[in-house]
Amino acid sequence: MALQTAPPRLGSQRTRARGSLLLLLLCLGWVLPSRAQAADVRLALLTSRLQRTSRDLSWQQPELTVLLPRARRGAEKKACPPGREAQVVDENLFFYEEWELEACMDGALLATQMRQVNRIPFTYQQLHIFKRKLDEFYPQGYPQSLIERLSYFFLHVTPEDIHKWNVTSLDTVKSLLKVSQGRGVDVQVAALIARYVGGGGELDKAALDTLATFRPAYLCVLRPEQLGSVQLSVLWMTTPQDLGACSSLQMAVLYHKAHTAFQNVSGSEYFTRIEPFLGGASTEDLRAFTWQNISIDAAAFKKLPTEAVLSLTVAEVQKLLGPNLVGLKAEAGNVPLRDWISRQSQEDLDRLGLGLVGGVPNGYLVLDLHSREASSGSPHCLGRGPGPVLTVTASLLLVSVLS
Ligand SMILES: *[C@@H]1O[C@H](CO)[C@@H](O)[C@H](O)[C@H]1NC(C)=O
Ligand SMILES: *[C@@H]1O[C@H](CO)[C@@H](O)[C@H](O)[C@H]1NC(C)=O
Ligand SMILES: *[C@@H]1O[C@H](CO)[C@@H](O)[C@H](O)[C@H]1NC(C)=O
Repeated sequence: MALQTAPPRLGSQRTRARGSLLLLLLCLGWVLPSRAQAADVRLALLTSRLQRTSRDLSWQQPELTVLLPRARRGAEKKACPPGREAQVVDENLFFYEEWELEACMDGALLATQMRQVNRIPFTYQQLHIFKRKLDEFYPQGYPQSLIERLSYFFLHVTPEDIHKWNVTSLDTVKSLLKVSQGRGVDVQVAALIARYVGGGGELDKAALDTLATFRPAYLCVLRPEQLGSVQLSVLWMTTPQDLGACSSLQMAVLYHKAHTAFQNVSGSEYFTRIEPFLGGASTEDLRAFTWQNISIDAAAFKKLPTEAVLSLTVAEVQKLLGPNLVGLKAEAGNVPLRDWISRQSQEDLDRLGLGLVGGVPNGYLVLDLHSREASSGSPHCLGRGPGPVLTVTASLLLVSVLS
């Protein structure tokens, strides 16, 4: 009876007996196509069984699913033997061979009895077959009625599956987050959040708190105002990879959160921490670096938002880079430096002593232009660096020199 009502506390003799039987079958090579895999999978099953006896439903080890051997070839097309058609999802199915499950199992049945699927300690191979059956039955993606009952089966779906779903229930999101904790399915979680938020869903504090226990692969799917509610501890876990898809609006929110989160560290550690967030820094934030004597390098400069860089003076950029200033020369043709250069007076740029060209010319233009071209020796520098103003000026000057 307990088996019917509670999630299985299957640390019973019954499980152990079944586990032993399974191991015996494994040893006889009944389940597995190759010995090398058999050893691995046996270990995996043993591990999962040991865990199952101590924790409810701990059978899922996503990192072990890579061990899944392909379904036995040639066995897939067999017809279901008479009397073996599955009418309910129960323990008897555990003893079906894989080809029998293939032949006798029905996606619709699985969908209606998902709770039972989660309750019985099916092997990875069996679950893999169930997953395929469900995918065949719902080629357009699982309906919400199934998603809300998925529970531990969620650990078997891929991000591609999830991207087909419509998720509108916060309770569903929360229940799936709960089963995902500690299971290494951060990418699936990010996909789930993307579907929910993308459909207009709001996350409450409890959901955000649970999310904070996952690798923050979901950050760039949150709206800026939702990012504002993310826990500061999340910023400590964030890697550059997690920020790759963020917009500048999202980065601006994240930069300020990160700045707050990293208040207890200073100097080079602060800079190492904040660096992945630099794409969200404002001009004022960059000026603050110069007051703190933090020097950014050319690689970090490259990541700065163009709008934030454009308002900096030559002296500020000099201070911002400090000893790293020489590295800037190599960035002259790229944003944001290229755009910044085209807004500075060439005279100021010259003071940096880096040979940066393309600033707004002043004074005796012909001489300036001539020396610039001669010193850089680069015939395309006009087309590359400066804005239209200089290009036009240069053309006029050339005309006047030639005439
Ligand atoms: C999701 O919603 C859209 C629009 O209502 C619908 O066309 C689509 O079939 C739904 N997908 C699933 C998997 O339910
Ligand atoms: C700063 O705070 C974070 C999180 O609160 C903590 O993980 C980190 O160890 C702290 N660092 C220092 C140097 O106190
Ligand atoms: C920055 O450096 C200058 C000169 O080295 C020093 O006088 C100043 O105190 C430093 N400021 C900070 C915040 O470390």
